[in-house]
Amino acid sequence: MHSLNDRVFLVSGAASGMGKAISKRFLSEGAKVVGFSLEKTCDIIHPSFEYMSGDVTNLQDCMRAVETTVEKFGKLDGLVNSAGITREGTLETMSMDTFRQTFEINVYGTFAMCKASIGELKKQPSTIVNISSNMAVKAIPERVSYNASKAAVNMMTECIALDYAPRVRANTVMPGIVDTPMIQKRIRESEDPQKMLDLYAGFYPLKRIGTVEDIVEAVLYLSCDASAWITGIHLPVCGGDK
Ligand SMILES: NC(=O)c1ccc[n+]([C@@H]2O[C@H](COP(=O)([O-])OP(=O)(O)OC[C@H]3O[C@@H](n4cnc5c(N)ncnc54)[C@H](O)[C@@H]3O)[C@@H](O)[C@H]2O)c1
Repeated sequence: MHSLNDRVFLVSGAASGMGKAISKRFLSEGAKVVGFSLEKTCDIIHPSFEYMSGDVTNLQDCMRAVETTVEKFGKLDGLVNSAGITREGTLETMSMDTFRQTFEINVYGTFAMCKASIGELKKQPSTIVNISSNMAVKAIPERVSYNASKAAVNMMTECIALDYAPRVRANTVMPGIVDTPMIQKRIRESEDPQKMLDLYAGFYPLKRIGTVEDIVEAVLYLSCDASAWITGIHLPVCGGDK
């Protein structure tokens, strides 16, 4: 794998789950990272890390995150959009507000981060990795807003890849169920957490749910020169599920 030495990344959702693990790994690969998410603070301590609290649905906040990145580290070589939410429901059980909120954060928020960053990204060869979901290409019950929002992220990423090639490469990673606070909460709050975990593991030919490290490897690959001839793809990282 090629190094990220001295490359500068902006990572949304950096205070939790995958975004946090991606930020930490990128730092250990020699990158400089600005983390951006809703949480007031982030517990990553590193001389090449700066944290900014903000909302991806607010374009001004996204632009401030890009400005902070360039002020602090001089450029922007890559964007990783990991901020996102999941919501459950069907046409009958989901409110209009919940449907709108899922799209606002997962789709509009990803668009706003890409829009705010593109001027800096275009200045040198650079990368965008959007964390989508394997639910973008495989419907499951009672996730009408989530599945649709992630499908939109996939197509938006393909459009960005076409519009900004060859300067900017844009790809998605499509995780299956991954052990992060998002999923831990659902497992914890279920009637029988172990049964739920076993059920989830059974969805996958590789017989386990994902770890954040599984996702980090894929994001790292798509963010470094090892993937230099790849753009506009959706990389499933989901234990062999189809
Ligand atoms: N965990 C899974 O099983 C799983 C599976 C497939 C896809 N995903 C996707 O992976 C991404 C990361 O999920 P995770 O499991 O690490 O979740 P997480 O809940 O641990 O972290 C999500 C992060 O997104 C941030 N965020 C949410 N709304 C935001 C907003 N409006 N503005 C700024 N930041 C905001 C949160 O503050 C948090 O830091 C999400 O896009 C999620 O949809 C997760």
